[in-house]
Amino acid sequence: MEPNDARTILDEELTRGLELIGGSATLDDLERAKVVALGRKGRFAEVQRALGSFEHEDKVALGQRANAVRTELQRAFDERRDELHRAAEDALLDADGVDITLPGRRPRPGSLHPLAIVERRIIEVFTRMGYRVVEGPEIEDEWHNFEALNIPPDHPARTMKDSLYVGVPGLLLRTETSAAQIRTMESQDPPIHVVCPGRVFRQETPDATHLPVFHQVECLAVDEGISFADLKGTLEAFAREMFGGDRRVRLNPDYFPFVEPGAQVAVSCFICDGVGCRTCGNGWIELLGAGMVHPKVLENCGYDSERYTGFAFGLGIERVAMVQYGVADMRLFVEGDVRFLSQFQGAA
Ligand code: FA5
Repeated sequence: MEPNDARTILDEELTRGLELIGGSATLDDLERAKVVALGRKGRFAEVQRALGSFEHEDKVALGQRANAVRTELQRAFDERRDELHRAAEDALLDADGVDITLPGRRPRPGSLHPLAIVERRIIEVFTRMGYRVVEGPEIEDEWHNFEALNIPPDHPARTMKDSLYVGVPGLLLRTETSAAQIRTMESQDPPIHVVCPGRVFRQETPDATHLPVFHQVECLAVDEGISFADLKGTLEAFAREMFGGDRRVRLNPDYFPFVEPGAQVAVSCFICDGVGCRTCGNGWIELLGAGMVHPKVLENCGYDSERYTGFAFGLGIERVAMVQYGVADMRLFVEGDVRFLSQFQGAA
């Protein structure tokens, strides 16, 4: 090869290499173009091998030229490689449909369920009055759920109509938290001041004020000299704390086998304020059953009923939550609709 031929080849290889590199549509094409332009089997390499046979002056001049051509081709290669990388990334982003300029999605903070909020408030009110929290099992035996509570076998509350038995003789889902009274009195001596929150189960058709699974808080106080006046005072203090001064509280005589006397306690309806509407019916929302612990119940637990007296009540958490938040239909609490539940965010 003559030096002039070498010069011509370098010029041609530069032009051809730049065209090949510039025309590469993919990274693979680009690699192939580089092999053609600068690889060991190419014409550029041929020139380099021939340099050794040239005169000193030609060798220096053509050597410099060859270096310049290689640098130029390498620069074109790097530039094209960056372009192709960017294009590949853009294509990926387009395919994913991601618009990175959009603002991010804010994670939705969770919140306590309104029934949990109300249960906590009720418990807070009672613990401030000196009550201790106890818990009982959701599956109860007939002794704690019925017999010890002075509910004899022929009592209507025992029938399958109201109660849900679990398929093991003598065991059922507790129908009221009053079973906790018995468990507490069996395990300790007076004075007793306890509250027992929990789920209870009954065969019920759901409506605006009834659910088959609902929550109660049982309250029990036993000591020497406890009277109905203590019960009334405690209920009034509770109503004031929970609902403020403007809701009226009403006690009506009622029958529960485990108390004597017994009472039904209601607050004036938050919608009609005692006039009567679709939610309450007669102007009052029944919140709880209450009364003086029946002497037989005290004796069933080994207490001396001549010495000790006590009061008990069981309130429905859903009913309290209805009054508290002005919710006209209790079923909303259990339907799990986030639009409803999210309104209680930060209410705790
Ligand atoms: C009882 O369950 C008695 N254990 C209460 C009691 C305790 C009386 C201690 C005396 C002494 P009652 O079935 O009325 O009573 O229920 C008490 C409260 O639970 C009701 O006032 C009401 O607020 C709520 N409640 C009753 N049934 C339902 C239901 N199906 N759905 C939602 N809440 C209910």
